[in-house]
Amino acid sequence: MKEGDTIRKGIIRYLLYFINMLKGKHIVLGITGSIAAYKSCLIIRLLKKAGADVQVVITPSGKEFITPITLSALTSRPVISDFFSGRDGTWNSHVDLGLWADAMLIAPATACTIGKMANGVADNMLITTYLSMKAPVFVAPAMDLDMYKHPSTKRNLDLLRQYGNHIIEPGDGFLASGLEGKGRMEEPETIVNILDNSL
Ligand SMILES: Cc1cc2nc3c(=O)[nH]c(=O)nc-3n(C[C@H](O)[C@H](O)[C@H](O)COP(=O)(O)O)c2cc1C
Repeated sequence: MKEGDTIRKGIIRYLLYFINMLKGKHIVLGITGSIAAYKSCLIIRLLKKAGADVQVVITPSGKEFITPITLSALTSRPVISDFFSGRDGTWNSHVDLGLWADAMLIAPATACTIGKMANGVADNMLITTYLSMKAPVFVAPAMDLDMYKHPSTKRNLDLLRQYGNHIIEPGDGFLASGLEGKGRMEEPETIVNILDNSL
């Protein structure tokens, strides 16, 4: 690449940094128990690169798929999962998170979490945070094709749409189960672009 091209690219990247809508934004990233949870690391990297501040809230199942250490290292923030921090009387406030956030993104979103969100089953930090959220909510489902096709999942996603949440449709393709069909979580770059264009 010529020196002029490198400088031009550098200037474009510098300008994009200042016009991107994610700069300085507070994003609550909800992570659930899906095989696609590893992709949340890429989402965090892209959000951080765009200048956003990311707070992860993970379900108990989510921690079986990806470790809080990795997520905390990437976000430079402690990961929130439990209502209570320890036996010292401290606790995590879903209400404060709801006020802090400029957007909440749940990626990946399992069928289970989507069902709980649709029906207000507030039995973990992610759902209580969702129910307290004042900012726009984006949901990126990830599941096997038959789970995605099930009338229960369809109904729950329709309910979330009615609540005004933005559903980031999954794509078609090879799934972790070895099957092929719709249910594959949208790619991190696309998810972050959707957020960037919507905020
Ligand atoms: C290996 C493995 C992969 C899974 N992947 C998914 C998935 O992609 N989507 C989904 O809806 N459930 C998946 N599940 C099931 C969820 O982990 C399970 O429903 C769990 O209760 C979800 O809890 P959560 O939504 O609170 O994180 C998977 C389970 C296993 C064992």
